[in-house]
Amino acid sequence: MQLSVISLFPEMFAAVTEYGVTGRAVKQGKLSLNYHNPREFTSDKHQTVDDRPYGGGPGMVMKVSPLLEAIKVAKQQLGDDAKVIYLSPQGQKLNQHALGQMAKRKSMILLAGRYEGIDERLVEQEIDEEWSIGDYVLSGGELAAMVMIDGIARLLPGVLGDAESAEQDSFMSGLLDHPHYTRPEELNGQTVPAVLLGGNHEAIRQWRLKQSLGRTWLRRPDLLELITLTTEQAALLEE
Ligand code: ADE
Repeated sequence: MQLSVISLFPEMFAAVTEYGVTGRAVKQGKLSLNYHNPREFTSDKHQTVDDRPYGGGPGMVMKVSPLLEAIKVAKQQLGDDAKVIYLSPQGQKLNQHALGQMAKRKSMILLAGRYEGIDERLVEQEIDEEWSIGDYVLSGGELAAMVMIDGIARLLPGVLGDAESAEQDSFMSGLLDHPHYTRPEELNGQTVPAVLLGGNHEAIRQWRLKQSLGRTWLRRPDLLELITLTTEQAALLEE
């Protein structure tokens, strides 16, 4: 997947391009990022990237012309069919399903805002989708874009090995993940659940599924409303 990132702080993206699973996806050529800094598309001496809001009040808005130029250049690079995504708290709430759909695309343009955001006419004329990573306000869209990039990268074919497989993840089934244990067998008096030591793979699978169901019911009952349980899941939840 090819991503063009429009950001005043492209250096921040080293957090995803240089480390861990996402860094590996970049090295393997399964994910490529390039950057367009609106500051490069300014013409004044001070390279101004913000502007005053009509109507007054505190805070600035991102200057329009550098953003238009940056989007134009990104589209020339990726093709006109690349969707332009704007990260903002006003967007649709990102979830695992949306990430899965995005991972099927060949390219996207991610616009990370700063200040109070971008001119609403740009949202209407240039933005295809607006996404939020949650109901809180960050000081810029960069971290949100990186959350999106990380979530997508690990779903790209061949990025995760079998051992890490995304199918096992929390949320792939629509349920929370089951608990995990490693050595030592006893930690400050607490032991590992016996079923995990017994080697009965079917019993382990059922125990894990039951833990997933129980945790989801206790911690995130809202998630259970969104999915249809299998017959086995429904029976385990009744137990
Ligand atoms: N920019 C600032 N806050 C954000 C959020 N919660 N989601 C996406 N982009 C943002």
